[in-house]
Amino acid sequence: MVSVVLLFTQLAVKMKNMKIGLFDSGIGGLTVLRAIREKFPNVDLVYLGDTARVPYGNKSPQTVVRYSFECADFLLFQDINLLVVACNTASSYALEELKKALSIPVVGVIEPGVKSALRTTSRGRVGVIGTMATIKSGSHKKLLEEYGVIVFQKACPLFVPLVEEGIIEGEIAKKVVEYYLQELKEVDIDTLILGCTHYPLLKPLIEDFIGEKVKVVDSAESTAREIEPLVSDQGSSELELYFTDHSQNMNFLIEFILGKPTEHKLVAPICNLR
Ligand code: DGL
Repeated sequence: MVSVVLLFTQLAVKMKNMKIGLFDSGIGGLTVLRAIREKFPNVDLVYLGDTARVPYGNKSPQTVVRYSFECADFLLFQDINLLVVACNTASSYALEELKKALSIPVVGVIEPGVKSALRTTSRGRVGVIGTMATIKSGSHKKLLEEYGVIVFQKACPLFVPLVEEGIIEGEIAKKVVEYYLQELKEVDIDTLILGCTHYPLLKPLIEDFIGEKVKVVDSAESTAREIEPLVSDQGSSELELYFTDHSQNMNFLIEFILGKPTEHKLVAPICNLR
């Protein structure tokens, strides 16, 4: 009898739709969502962009951890069975605590980004760009150095506001890219990690400036690969997008990243859930 019950429980778990929750401070994490959706077209996805409180990258570690737990709580309430922290800043500071506290698997974007660079680098000279907080945490650097890679870091705090404003091409964006990346151009790197999920939106400008000898990598595809063992591509392909505030450019950016207009809902900024 016991074994029959057990069998049914296991079957029920297997039959349960795969529903992956992702969160980021804003729209950047949609670059990760896009890669996951491409690889697993049938799973259900629910995304939370904390646009009321973006950017996370200049907040204290304690605040980033608190916001991350609040986002995770909201997603858990949506009955997800896997959480992807689609934000390098949150992954740098909150991943380990989330893993300990949650009863579902939690995956971040730092390790996938690093793996992607390790697969790409030819001479072991890697640049990392990210938010102030991510760069300060040294999360990519520490991992890369374990593999003997020489790492050059640069925080680019204006990139996130630029992207959230929808300024992803043109003179202003170009000048900001030049301003931050000039010093990385002078240290002979062969690979550059986009250590923030917003930055793939600036990739064409970054590639143009840094030059074709440098391979520019991000964590999106690599994160999709990373979760493969945890995902059964079974679900109803539902996509739910939530944001904690409206922004003027949201529709444009969602369409730009996901390729078509996608409905989204607003949720009040989540506070004190824990
Ligand atoms: N997309 C977030 C990241 O990957 C941006 C953080 C921010 O809001 O500053 O770090």
